[in-house]
Amino acid sequence: MNVRRPKGTNDILPEDTGKWQFIEARIQKLCRRYGYQEIRTPIFEHTELFARGIGEATDIVEKEMYTFRDRGDRSLTLRPEGTACVVRAFIENGLDSSPLPVKLYYLGPMFRYERPQAGRYRQFYQFGIEAIGSMDPFLDAEMITLPIELYRACGLDGFQVQINSIGCLECRGSYRDTLLRHLEGKADQFCHNCQSRLHRNPLRILDCKNPKCRELVEEVPPITDYLCPECADHFGQVKGYLDQLGVAYEPNPKLVRGFDYYTKTVFEIIVPALGAQNAIGAGGRYDGLVEEIGGKPQPAVGFAVGVERLILALGEQSGIDYAEARPDAFVAHFGGRTKARAVEIVTGLRRTGLWAELDYLGRSLKAQMKAADRLKCKWVVIVGEEELEQNTVKIRNMATGEEQGVSLDQIGAFLTPAGEEQGT
Ligand code: HAM
Repeated sequence: MNVRRPKGTNDILPEDTGKWQFIEARIQKLCRRYGYQEIRTPIFEHTELFARGIGEATDIVEKEMYTFRDRGDRSLTLRPEGTACVVRAFIENGLDSSPLPVKLYYLGPMFRYERPQAGRYRQFYQFGIEAIGSMDPFLDAEMITLPIELYRACGLDGFQVQINSIGCLECRGSYRDTLLRHLEGKADQFCHNCQSRLHRNPLRILDCKNPKCRELVEEVPPITDYLCPECADHFGQVKGYLDQLGVAYEPNPKLVRGFDYYTKTVFEIIVPALGAQNAIGAGGRYDGLVEEIGGKPQPAVGFAVGVERLILALGEQSGIDYAEARPDAFVAHFGGRTKARAVEIVTGLRRTGLWAELDYLGRSLKAQMKAADRLKCKWVVIVGEEELEQNTVKIRNMATGEEQGVSLDQIGAFLTPAGEEQGT
């Protein structure tokens, strides 16, 4: 049997990497403008980090982590998300002594053992940002405007922002009692998953996708009615900033998110046309996480965008104008002395910044011309015996079929007329 890639993973082929590079370039530009600097953390961490950070009673920690023992018998886990990792790095490297808030971004693969389907993978990429060290509600608003700017810069339309506040531990305590009063009588009607969550993590029942569970929680009062004055004021200010910035959003009192670290603001950005896996980005505030992981208390807020989902959402509607990946020149030769000259020419062209190819398969001139055509080369530089003697080459314009003799020292100038950018 041939070895195939593991279920839920993707090969990103050269025909698609242009899209990834396009998005990555926009991410870098945007983060620079907003003052977020890149951080790169390990792909695997001690399992305890996620158990403590994300929460023992969450789906991710209970069912979705890739956890293994290394040869030193340590329990390690492939990171299922970036926030806990960034917070660990913030504490471990003493970043709290830098000017606050510390504003960081990351881009890389995450791993979750989920049931794969369109838009849901076991290895997927997230672009995320985290701002640690400020309570300012304007930062919460920034976490929503930055991804929106990214989506727009990529040419995406048709997304919706949903926001909610799940308050602090205190507000959640009193809401939990209300929730249990409403739900306990109907416990046996909930799906299996929700029944097991009822006492451990009742808030999560609110965003169960099961239609029967949705119906059962319809009458539950919104969590926003139970916010303490400070959390209510914070949420009001976040919405005020979004209004001021002209960002359209929908309050969704059932939005609670699948991580225990969130406090106050939570949000998701969805593209309804994507179907079941329609969240292209999500985030929120997590004012208790730094302390939970062992640091001095620091408020924080962040978000992450799923890059595969963004690409799916862009689909055909994308306004992306990728620079088409095609060589500038193919240097064709007849072997022997002409190959030695072709090697010199191809090396020289590459040094001037052009994308130059040469025949590595000992093919006939006809087959080389065909190969150049398939690669969509703009020019073919032909090095024949006769040209060799005269220190010239023949250059064929592949679009028009015109051929012209050019002396060796003029090839670079001929292929990149003054004012034209070198390379594609
Ligand atoms: P999350 O909602 O789990 O949040 O993931 C953020 C985004 O990653 C989702 O909206 C989705 O686009 C993408 N995503 C999640 N799971 C998958 C999957 N299995 N396959 C493909 N894409 C997926 C977090 O991870 C939080 N750390 C976000 C955050 C940062 N909160 C504060 N700071």
